[in-house]
Amino acid sequence: MDKIIVLDFGGQYNQLIARRVREHKVYAEVKAYNKISLDELKSGSYSGIIFTGGPNSVYDEASPHFDPEILNAGIPVLGICYGCQLLAWMGKGEICSAGSISEYGKTELYTDDCVLFSGIPETSICWMSHTDYVKTAPEGFRIVAHTDHCPCAAMCDESRKLFGVQFHPEVTHTEFGAQLLHNFLFDICGCKGDWSMDDYCVKAVASLREKIGSGRVLLALSGGVDSSVCAALLAEAIGDRLTCVFVDHGLMRKDEGDEVERAFAPWNINFVRVNAQARFLARLKGITEPERKRKIIGEEFIRVFEEEGKKIGAVDFLAQGTIYPDIIESGLGASATIKSHHNVGGLPDFVDFREIIEPLGLLFKDEVRQLGRELGLPEYLVSRQPFPGPGLAIRILGEITEEKLGILREADAIFREELAAAGLGTCTSQYFAVLDSSRSVGVMGDARTYGYTVILRAVTTDDFMTADWARLPYEVLSAASSRITNEVGSVTRVAYDITSKPPATVEWE
Ligand code: XMP
Repeated sequence: MDKIIVLDFGGQYNQLIARRVREHKVYAEVKAYNKISLDELKSGSYSGIIFTGGPNSVYDEASPHFDPEILNAGIPVLGICYGCQLLAWMGKGEICSAGSISEYGKTELYTDDCVLFSGIPETSICWMSHTDYVKTAPEGFRIVAHTDHCPCAAMCDESRKLFGVQFHPEVTHTEFGAQLLHNFLFDICGCKGDWSMDDYCVKAVASLREKIGSGRVLLALSGGVDSSVCAALLAEAIGDRLTCVFVDHGLMRKDEGDEVERAFAPWNINFVRVNAQARFLARLKGITEPERKRKIIGEEFIRVFEEEGKKIGAVDFLAQGTIYPDIIESGLGASATIKSHHNVGGLPDFVDFREIIEPLGLLFKDEVRQLGRELGLPEYLVSRQPFPGPGLAIRILGEITEEKLGILREADAIFREELAAAGLGTCTSQYFAVLDSSRSVGVMGDARTYGYTVILRAVTTDDFMTADWARLPYEVLSAASSRITNEVGSVTRVAYDITSKPPATVEWE
């Protein structure tokens, strides 16, 4: 199997690079730059190396570097952003600060003749995000692309198969990024593209068996795509030594607790439902700050799992369906904390299990769905829209009360019904209602009303790292709005969220 190694120098998009490579059916794994030696890289296991971006300047004392001998090892290298600057620095090129004209976002790119750009027009759009750039390419390299403000947007030494790009081919905003990676993988590294999710599944099952040995695992099952796929993977690996625990925390959508229970009833797995509504609501009483809510929920989940683990007895491992975007948004390594996903940043300091295992931790949502299909999960489970672990708690802005939960459940159910009736349920990646705690004035039956605002949110995305708001037909929004104001008491106003991610996030808290 061809394998690409992504050497991580601390950028935001490291796993995204690996995932883009896997999209070309070439296996890729990410390793920290200081966790692998030159000898291992030269061992013949890797068909190519990608240096990631990173927040440093190559001249910083603490900046991550690698043995320059790698340039003469005969393995193809593609350096991206900081990785490009590092290649130049290793070859004794010159790097300088872009100063006040640093480029961020969509930028016009002008390319010259180079195998890396084969099939790519001479002028195209790329995504730039940098404060330094290569001023003088190192010996043996030629400059093969520029932008209006960056004289060296790409450089190459074709004889040594070394390539550097200042822009980010891994983000979808770079028009021909996928073509560039294709050229690197197939024309430069000579990969065959014969890897599939099936291989991932076989490998994941084998490594779970090795790690778990004869131990027992408790899986935190929410009924969503990620934890369901995780359940199927673990069931394949360890059979009935797996117990799936579904905690109904009282923050589920309308009728959802019973639906989850029904969905798993036909499975041949140990399934436990814990009704923990009262304890979660008690702990959330009076709490308004989003991060606080997330941490309380993350901790309470763990306490319930610990109690259930003790009841089962001799449970060594807690498994979670954490996926990569949960990890990155919770502040992985040097990246900033956007929000503490309940199963990552929301975990308490002490967890009474030998180890937490997260077999999907390197995958993106659409890859998880693909894996679920490989494992034979029914389509209705695999294509379910995601629902966050903290549930409606992060869709009620401010304090959570039984009254608000009731209002939001009804409004959300109506919105989902209207989308389904319009046949739009599968064209939007995620759609839901949010309840604002502030109130506004309305008029109903000639009388003044003073009630809540329901905000409808629908987004399209494939990896949930970025998202756009869905252009829903006015008629659907109108039907949802009048049904919500007519059928749900205490709602005077319905709004539709037209913000993409970034700058917003999908959830409101
Ligand atoms: P954001 O709001 O971060 O959401 O743009 C991206 C995706 O992640 C889901 N999400 C969560 N899922 N635990 C989860 O299991 C969480 O704490 C959490 N926070 C957000 C969100 O629903 C969307 O699909």
